[in-house]
Amino acid sequence: MAESTKSAKLTIDGKEYDLPIYSPTAGPDVLDIRKLYAQAGVFTYDPGFTSTASCDSTITFIDGGAGELLHRGYPIDQLAGKSHYLEVCYLLLYGELPSPAQLEDFESRVTNHTMLHEQMMNFFRGFRRDAHPMAVMVGVVGAMSAFYHDSTDITDPWQREVASIRLIAKMPTIAANAYKYTIGQPFIYPRNDLDYASNFLRMCFAVPAEDYQVNPILSRAMDRIFTLHADHEQNASTSTVRLASSSGANPFACIAAGIACLWGPAHGGANQACLEMLNEIGTVDRIPEFIARAKDKDDPFRLMGFGHRVYKNFDPRAKVMKESADEVLELLGVDNNPILQVAKELEAAALADPYFADKKLFPNVDFYSGIILEAMGFPTSMFTPIFAVARTVGWISQWKEQISDPQLKIGRPRQLYLGETARDYSDIENR
Ligand code: ACO
Repeated sequence: MAESTKSAKLTIDGKEYDLPIYSPTAGPDVLDIRKLYAQAGVFTYDPGFTSTASCDSTITFIDGGAGELLHRGYPIDQLAGKSHYLEVCYLLLYGELPSPAQLEDFESRVTNHTMLHEQMMNFFRGFRRDAHPMAVMVGVVGAMSAFYHDSTDITDPWQREVASIRLIAKMPTIAANAYKYTIGQPFIYPRNDLDYASNFLRMCFAVPAEDYQVNPILSRAMDRIFTLHADHEQNASTSTVRLASSSGANPFACIAAGIACLWGPAHGGANQACLEMLNEIGTVDRIPEFIARAKDKDDPFRLMGFGHRVYKNFDPRAKVMKESADEVLELLGVDNNPILQVAKELEAAALADPYFADKKLFPNVDFYSGIILEAMGFPTSMFTPIFAVARTVGWISQWKEQISDPQLKIGRPRQLYLGETARDYSDIENR
């Protein structure tokens, strides 16, 4: 925890309270209100946590104004350009970039945990064929606590480590199985001679009847999608994981909670919603109509893939993702596909419109990720599961950081109660 170097004075009914202020290594100062209720008998009010730091962390830093995203201090564009997903996983989990030997050992540990307990296959088969893969993932990941009893004791550092590796390793297998099940194809088992992204593509697209060769450009694009989604400090799903974990819940249950939160269209579900929106727009001549709807206060419609709680200039991940989109679409020869044209024109039209500029609404990472994933052959329902695969390392890193904190307290927000005060029960015949 940082040392307090300054303080603020708060006056309530003429009485003054000193509140310590901490200066972080980067970002705005933080006012410590932890003793406020005990001293002054008041709560603070911040629904949506727009001004509240829920924890201290050393993992990821975002400067929304500058469009900066750092993992352990390293800028995301450098990591996406020079590194690869499993190396970034190591960085997030352990705090430093690995040496060659450390990376080899880490990759081997992940690779050797990619298979699922065979009995879990029955679990997939219990779902309806038309289940959304995110529903399957919430269920199956939660169910891992029933299959891996030897890694649920959170007080044991070794078990925490095994659970972390298991989750990162098995998540692609779970997502691929969820997909295969919904399209009625046999599950494809992982192969240890393939890298993380190639293995995932193969488990999704191979069929036993044919040879499947992973295209290295697609595999690099997949790896980049994973890298760009790996962590994003205290976003909604990560905060959900931290809140679930604060009660002492096991890691598989906590990550299942994170997956559930990620599913929503305001968060990870935006990539699916964005592509569905582009398909609904269909042709460039309809763009003005949708821009007008997004600006209409009485219409709940929003431009999906636009806007971000923290980024108010540009999303640095979107820049890299756009480059990947161009590369993949050129390779696949679909760079003149109508949906891409709609996306490009929509982006240009929104960026030129004062409504979006004034509200600092820019394309976020999910504006482009769906376009790449669709070109690769994924259905929209798989977009958010892919995000979940990528974000697992972020959730796990934040979870590990949280539970190794000796000061850990259960997360228990307060409220501004506006309901009835105490009143007597009235019998049903008198109502
Ligand atoms: N289209 C049109 N208007 C928008 C959009 C949008 N995509 N996003 C925000 N606005 C407007 C709001 O109507 C609001 O206008 P007002 O001040 O006149 O009422 C203003 O911009 C601020 O919006 P908030 O919802 O208060 O901003 P917040 O920071 O809470 O929301 C969010 C951020 C949820 C991402 C929002 O921009 C949104 O819904 N975007 C679309 C969904 C999306 O792409 N989500 C992905 C986020 S990135 C990720 O999870 C990887």
